[in-house]
Amino acid sequence: MTQLQISRFGGVDVLQLSDQPLSSPSANQVLLAVRYAAVNPVDAKTRAGLGWAAQKYKDVLPWTPGFDVCGVVKACGEGVTSFSIGQRVCGMIFDGGAYASETLAYADMLLPVPDNVADEQAAALPVAGLTAWQGLFEVGQLKAGETVLIPAAAGGVGHIAVQLAKQAGAKVIATASKSNHDFVRALGADDVVDYHDAEAISALTGQIDFVFDLVGFESGLQNLSLLKANGRQVTVPTVAAPQIKEAAEAQGKTASGMLVHPDIEGLAALLKLCAEGKLKISISQIFPLSQGATAHTAIETGRTKGKILLDPRV
Ligand SMILES: NC(=O)c1ccc[n+]([C@@H]2O[C@H](COP(=O)([O-])OP(=O)(O)OC[C@H]3O[C@@H](n4cnc5c(N)ncnc54)[C@H](OP(=O)(O)O)[C@@H]3O)[C@@H](O)[C@H]2O)c1
Repeated sequence: MTQLQISRFGGVDVLQLSDQPLSSPSANQVLLAVRYAAVNPVDAKTRAGLGWAAQKYKDVLPWTPGFDVCGVVKACGEGVTSFSIGQRVCGMIFDGGAYASETLAYADMLLPVPDNVADEQAAALPVAGLTAWQGLFEVGQLKAGETVLIPAAAGGVGHIAVQLAKQAGAKVIATASKSNHDFVRALGADDVVDYHDAEAISALTGQIDFVFDLVGFESGLQNLSLLKANGRQVTVPTVAAPQIKEAAEAQGKTASGMLVHPDIEGLAALLKLCAEGKLKISISQIFPLSQGATAHTAIETGRTKGKILLDPRV
């Protein structure tokens, strides 16, 4: 089994390939032959030693990143009755480990992949899809008829959020660089604004019921002023949320942070939308596992479109 591990926090060069046998699945676990792992910004932040996940894993290094997986069941541990050998599954595996040719995962974090959903879609969906779903509807309580602003709409979470918000009956105003406007419009956005154009952004002042803030920091603070008097904002980058919450309170507005959580029913609903052709996950680049460092360099630009994946089979 080949995996891409970190033994210390640092730059992309701390990602190192290692070959070692994997233990048999313990009770309630399955062993997966990984087809694809998605790359999420949290993977790069954790590799760099930043954020909640670095705190969580700092004492268990070496650690293999990768929270999103699509793979094929190779073996089942005791008590696993819901999956069979050879079945295609996907899921959000909460302790990472997907940057590998094989990985162990708890069966209750996995779902069968519908026949007409490609491996790439299934691997890219869990973290980004659940973040969009939970942020828009559980935390943000988005309702039909409301106007939602979705900054970073061409990114991993944003391009899914645009589709879900539109299908829920919201008016969707998105932000993206000019080169991504056609892409975001095709996802269903009613209007797309270039976030580099300060005048176009300030023209939205007082028009927004809900900002689904995927950027945080200066952008998240500025977007508070676009909200209607009783508007609300959910800031997704976790480190940015406390400052924005404080600023919102000072303006008499509501802002909150969020942390995506495993939700097998939510993931099943998202997979069903994919199977019905109502949700499309855009994959812009697939890197061999051995080029994980290049994939991290790409995700750290903050400018990737849709999702990027790692393929351990090449
Ligand atoms: N709290 C949680 O549970 C949780 C879960 C998932 C993600 N996150 C965080 O949420 C953020 C978004 O995640 P993601 O996976 O969607 O990231 P991503 O795929 O890396 O987002 C890339 C997009 O960000 C856009 N962008 C960059 N700077 C921008 C700015 N100043 N204003 C507007 N758009 C900008 C880019 O747009 P253009 O290319 O069009 O310029 C690009 O399309 C990340 O910080 C991530 O760590 C948190």
